[in-house]
Amino acid sequence: GKGNYRHFMEKELHEHPAVLGDTLRQYLDPKTLEVRLPRLPFDPKLVPRLTISACGSAFLAGQVGRYWIEELARLPVDADVASEFRYRNPPLAEGGAAILVSQSGETADTMAALKLLKAGGQRVLSVVNVPESSMARESDGALLTVAGPEIGVASTKAFTAQLAVLACLAIGFGRARRELSTLDEGRLTQALLEVPSHAAEILERDAQIRELAAEVAKARDVLFLGRGSLYPIALEGALKLKEISYIHAEGYAAGEMKHGPIALIDTSVPVIALCPSGPLFEKTASNLQEAAARGGRIMAFTDADGVGPLSRFAERVIELPRVGAFSTPILYAIPVQLLAYHVAVLKGTDVDQPRNLAKSVTVE
Ligand code: M6R
Repeated sequence: GKGNYRHFMEKELHEHPAVLGDTLRQYLDPKTLEVRLPRLPFDPKLVPRLTISACGSAFLAGQVGRYWIEELARLPVDADVASEFRYRNPPLAEGGAAILVSQSGETADTMAALKLLKAGGQRVLSVVNVPESSMARESDGALLTVAGPEIGVASTKAFTAQLAVLACLAIGFGRARRELSTLDEGRLTQALLEVPSHAAEILERDAQIRELAAEVAKARDVLFLGRGSLYPIALEGALKLKEISYIHAEGYAAGEMKHGPIALIDTSVPVIALCPSGPLFEKTASNLQEAAARGGRIMAFTDADGVGPLSRFAERVIELPRVGAFSTPILYAIPVQLLAYHVAVLKGTDVDQPRNLAKSVTVE
């Protein structure tokens, strides 16, 4: 049941720290700080190219996975939504491999991509939450997210658990391909091991996020901006908001603003910015400043180092724990999910069963 929570989604949001801990413990050794992957259906050293495919939020997790795998393992990755992948007749590399991501393991388009990949000679690994699902059975190998049953139609804990597994895979591939030293591996696994307690800290920002939600709930359109591995999280924030609050939202790569979407900016459009300190901060902050100069209302998520500079032009700044760039996508996913949740509650929508949507989409 829902326990003391009003909705399954709220309960599931509060399970983030536990689920992330359980999932990470499955694939990391906290003593040696090493990634411990089960036998994979392919050798990451020998694979020339990887395909990642999935739908909805699972695809956005896959897109973050692509940033991580390319960066840490120097392995080229193609990422495409399953419903496009299957019809664009993509050339598949000989000896190539694929990763499919799915909470349910039953999504029809992702299953169709699986069949196409196998027919094209690819070795397929799936990241699924349901061990006895069709996808787990029909893939050459499966890595499980340990999220437990997810009842809310909007994915929350399953999404961050998918990110946790993909992060471990990226480190594992990096080691196998000799792109990461033992030291790098230790540093990255250490960062991941700190994610559950940071997730708990973020959940404590609930009141601040609820205040932000009160502003967002008045809007007709909302923009989410992020850069690098936070770009897919901006897309996830927009998807979640559309899905459960029915407010029109779009996610953009922060640098794309000036190529069109900035024309939308006026004082009625909240711009939710994912902007932690670090190497991409200056560039993103300057994109935000351009939007602010045109009357845009910037609502930023950042860390202690970003608060000062962003407060000069942002209407609201919410401080999140300061972590290395590697773990930001996992952690910044939580406040955008929480935001969508609170907006939906304020709007009085059916949070767990949004209109027109099903938990598992088994038609193509
Ligand atoms: O079960 P799956 O992970 O394959 O489902 C994929 C999408 O249908 C799913 O992530 C959908 O986008 C969610 N409702 C997002 O919150």
